[in-house]
Amino acid sequence: MLIAPSILSADFGRLAQEVKDICDAGCDYVHVDVMDGHFVPNMTIGPVVVEAVAKAASKPLDIHLMVDKNDFFVELFAPLEPKFISFHIESELHPNRLASKIRSLGIGSAVVLNPHTPVSEIEYLLEYLDMVLLMSVNPGFGGQKFIPNVLEKAKRLKELTQKRNPDCLIEIDGGVSDANIESIADAGVDIAVAGSYIFGHPLGYSKAIESLRRP
Ligand code: DX5
Ligand code: ZN
Repeated sequence: MLIAPSILSADFGRLAQEVKDICDAGCDYVHVDVMDGHFVPNMTIGPVVVEAVAKAASKPLDIHLMVDKNDFFVELFAPLEPKFISFHIESELHPNRLASKIRSLGIGSAVVLNPHTPVSEIEYLLEYLDMVLLMSVNPGFGGQKFIPNVLEKAKRLKELTQKRNPDCLIEIDGGVSDANIESIADAGVDIAVAGSYIFGHPLGYSKAIESLRRP
């Protein structure tokens, strides 16, 4: 299991150090949640802060857009050379065009599905994607409860990716902890995002990340 800590739960007063610490602790990607207060009822960080995060990070960024104007933010963040930029299928009228554009910029293209959105929605998009992110909470806030039926979605998605694009990774985001990571791995998920679990772990970031690893 690859681990992408969500810095939404970090101490923003000392963000650069938090990003350094989480990278030193052995994470695979740094998950960055960008919210615009329109697509989701919350705002997080914009270009200036994401740039600072990129500077502090020794691991690639995994940028999760929760915004109305995807195209604008893709262009803004492309120079930071993130590993992935993911956009919500629910906020994009032309997902094929945008996924192809992200790839053409040399970035992994990824689409996010809200908890209610069926995987059939992206069946004909899969060959244009490097990753699909399944939300296991309603987007907008850290520290929410895991919605278990996402596991069934992950299994269905795995069947579809095997058929249409076996290289496409599956990521899960929201309410991930050591209590559900086993079933997440069993459902075929490749990358786990975790915010409050990792940043709130009493034994520190390395131990928290280690506890989420599975072969
Ligand atoms: C929610 C964000 C998540 C969030 C996860 O909209 O996309 O990345 O930070 O936080 P936890 O792991 O605490 O549910
Ligand atoms: Zn996220």
